[in-house]
This record gives sequence, structure tokens and C-alpha cells, in this order.
Amino acid sequence: MDYGIIKQELEDYVLNELYESRKKHTLGVRDTALKLAEKYHADKTKAEIAALAHDMYRGLRGEDLNRTVRELGLPDKYLDDPNLAHGKIAAIKLASDYGVSDEDILNAVSFHTTGRKGMSLLEKVIYLADAIEPNRDYPGVDDIRKEAEISLDGACLRSMESTIKHVLSQGAYLDKDTLEAADFLKENK
Ligand SMILES: [Fe+2]
Ligand SMILES: [Fe+2]
Repeated sequence: MDYGIIKQELEDYVLNELYESRKKHTLGVRDTALKLAEKYHADKTKAEIAALAHDMYRGLRGEDLNRTVRELGLPDKYLDDPNLAHGKIAAIKLASDYGVSDEDILNAVSFHTTGRKGMSLLEKVIYLADAIEPNRDYPGVDDIRKEAEISLDGACLRSMESTIKHVLSQGAYLDKDTLEAADFLKENK
């Protein structure tokens, strides 16, 4: 596995295939993930690969999405749910189409939307970078950015709590991985 070549292929995809706003977001996640990796001593190459790949399939919708979910053998709960499905799809494609075999990179991509119980350092870096990259603008994001200067776990927890609040207020489906991730961080503070 040559990370240099994989990184170049992913970067080409991001620059040429993604819509402008998603491209900006992805490059923001890349920059933020590299800073967090530096600060918290995560592997910067893995962080960059996971960041570039994390939203590659965020734009899949409707029949295209559902066909992909079925083809990849993902559970039915991902049908008609681009928000929850895109990370799972990206992780599988990153392995099959780009030859990434590193479990930590694949998990960081797979769980970037929800988090999960017992996340690795790299998973936290990608989860948090996705939540606080400079183009993100939502109530409370600056508090999470400040917390990210002090504590990776603290900032992840804050972000999860904000997601849980937001999802419940919208009456939307909350994935149990997010609840378990938040509980785990609280218990292990
Ligand atoms: Fe995403
Ligand atoms: Fe994202």
C-alpha cells in the first residue's frame, strides 16, 4: 500500500469530482485533521487519507444510494439515509477501489458521522475535524473549537452532545453509536 499514490488519487477525486461546498469542507477537514493529529500525536498520513475520503459519497441520493447500499450488503437502516450511509460506503470503497487495508483509517471513515464506543485516537481526530473545520457554522461550534485546544475527548464529547440535542430536537433518527460514544467518553473522563 503506497500512501503517497493513494493520497494523490483521493486528492484528485476531491478536487475534480466534488461540488464546490463539499470540496471546501473536505479540504477544511484535511487541514484541521492534520493540525489535530500534530497536536494529539496521531498519524498524520492516515489522518490525511481518512479526511480526504470521508465525504466522497456524501452526494449519493435516492436510487443510486439505495442500489449502492444493497450492492455492498449494508443493513437496511442505511436505505434512504445518505447522512448515516455515506461513511459506511466510503470505508468499503476506500478498501475495494483504493486498496486501503489499514483498519484504523477505514474505521475513522466509517464512524466519522456517528462516533462509537471506544474510538481510537485517529477516529476521534477525524470525527472532531469534521465537526469543527473552518467552514462549519452552527450554534456552539466555537465552544467545541476552544475545547479542542485543551482536550480531544472533551471536544468530541461536546460535539456528540450537540449532535444528540440537535437530532432529537428535529425528531430525527439518532444512531445508537453516538449515544454509546458519548456515554463512553463521559464514563472515562
Ligand atoms: Fe460526512
Ligand atoms: Fe464531512
